[in-house]
Amino acid sequence: MDRYEGSTALVTGAASGIGRAMAERLAEEGCAVVCADIDGEGAEDTAAQLLEKGSRASAIKLDVTDSTAIKEAIEKTIDEFGSFDVLMNNAGIAGGSWEDTIDINLSGVYYGLQHGCRVMAQRGGGSIVNTASVAGLNGLVGTTVTPEELLQGEGAVGTGAYTAAKHGVVGLTRQFAVTYGKLNVRVNAICPGYIVTPMTAPFREREGGTEFLESLHPIGRLGESEEIASAAAFLASSDASFITGIALPVDGGYTAR
Ligand SMILES: NC(=O)c1ccc[n+]([C@@H]2O[C@H](COP(=O)([O-])OP(=O)(O)OC[C@H]3O[C@@H](n4cnc5c(N)ncnc54)[C@H](O)[C@@H]3O)[C@@H](O)[C@H]2O)c1
Repeated sequence: MDRYEGSTALVTGAASGIGRAMAERLAEEGCAVVCADIDGEGAEDTAAQLLEKGSRASAIKLDVTDSTAIKEAIEKTIDEFGSFDVLMNNAGIAGGSWEDTIDINLSGVYYGLQHGCRVMAQRGGGSIVNTASVAGLNGLVGTTVTPEELLQGEGAVGTGAYTAAKHGVVGLTRQFAVTYGKLNVRVNAICPGYIVTPMTAPFREREGGTEFLESLHPIGRLGESEEIASAAAFLASSDASFITGIALPVDGGYTAR
């Protein structure tokens, strides 16, 4: 497929996991990709792989909690490749403090939407996909918290912050889709179930962890990054030209129950 021939994308969190798979998928479909991550070396590594395969790519060290840095990353994208058609607001953390989680997982997406929508609208349009989570639609079930931890009073902080941030991402997705619809900017979210990436390693590596997580998905297994990337690549493409403001579960049936 060459749905992205002549297009340019900025992908945050592109050093690892889902973001890396998004960068690879977009590049395979002809897109020039700016790989952005707070892990600058990891971003370089992803970009190097894309270049090796003959794609157009570059890397940038970017902290998504820095609004000005996001604005500059968008400008760099345009300077380098001459267009700015797709933004994947994907960078995120799990298991952090309330403050870090809200800063990165929610404010980081907000800054991307704020600058991304404006610049795309000025240039005639574009498409943004935010990586939310099934935790943007429902509460998470007993993965990170033991009853003992709950009794100590701190146990729900990580999941609470993550779920609040991801619900916020779904809200931002709807609001920016409504606000920018007539300016030809589409905004959607994907809501992955549990995916095999470094983020979920601590949960998978607990005794019985993988089996427990698998049991939450009616399909009976965890997802792969490429399965999230293909859904994101669909939503950002012209194949989804009449889709905006949705939060699409890509979750092996997790939210179907
Ligand atoms: N893995 C899952 O099961 C799962 C499920 C639902 C949603 N998600 C979401 O998918 C996204 C990607 O997660 P992943 O599983 O690929 O995790 P990952 O840890 O493999 O990758 C996350 C990337 O984000 C980068 N990052 C972290 N903070 C950053 C910051 N301040 N600025 C820029 N980059 C930063 C990290 O360096 C890393 O490369 C996240 O938003 C996550 O919440 C993941």
